[in-house]
Amino acid sequence: MEAWQKPVKCLGIACSPRTKGNTTALLEKALEGAREAGAETELLALGRFKFAPCIACNGCFTEGQCVVPDDMQVIYQKLLEADRIIIAAPIFSMGLCAQAKAVVDRGQRFWATKHILKRPVIDQNSLLAARRGIFISCAGSDLPDVFSGAERVVRYYFKMLEVEYLGSYLYRQVDEVGAIHRRPEALQEIFQAGKDLASK
Ligand SMILES: Cc1cc2nc3c(=O)[nH]c(=O)nc-3n(C[C@H](O)[C@H](O)[C@H](O)COP(=O)(O)O)c2cc1C
Repeated sequence: MEAWQKPVKCLGIACSPRTKGNTTALLEKALEGAREAGAETELLALGRFKFAPCIACNGCFTEGQCVVPDDMQVIYQKLLEADRIIIAAPIFSMGLCAQAKAVVDRGQRFWATKHILKRPVIDQNSLLAARRGIFISCAGSDLPDVFSGAERVVRYYFKMLEVEYLGSYLYRQVDEVGAIHRRPEALQEIFQAGKDLASK
């Protein structure tokens, strides 16, 4: 198969510690939509990986590589190889859950590549040059600003990763495990969003 015929690689990161939780259920639907549009998909559940938060050692300032030898190294590789990225993370304490925030902070190596080393994160001549992503989240409350902090951080993360942010799919008043299954319109919307993401 020629390189230009390769299917779009769509990576979904399930950040919730609840493996059968609401954001993961939405992510599974989005990936189903992406597959329908011909994408090759992978769901990466953070709970299966062991990694530390960023320790601010500045080790990444030298070569743009993180020097902490843990499972984040595997996650970095997948993030760099993906054409489409979906971050699915619940709201904990008015922000991203800690698992998601740890991934974002460990993205400091991408920030260092761009801003300290002044190099591109993604080779602009590669097929991955046009990367795109969306954010999925759920919150138990219906506070108007409940997603604003998390959304801001995800936008920043996509920028670091050289991923064009296409939008967020945010669901309020979704709390206990399985609650999202009582919202068929949300599942339908996210299926379509996954399909559109893979088609664009
Ligand atoms: C530790 C913790 C903190 C939470 N903080 C908030 C919050 O600040 N605001 C809110 O609306 N919901 C909050 N929630 C509710 C979750 O956002 C909600 O249950 C969501 O559906 C979880 O998604 P998940 O099933 O994908 O884990 C919190 C839940 C937990 C466990």
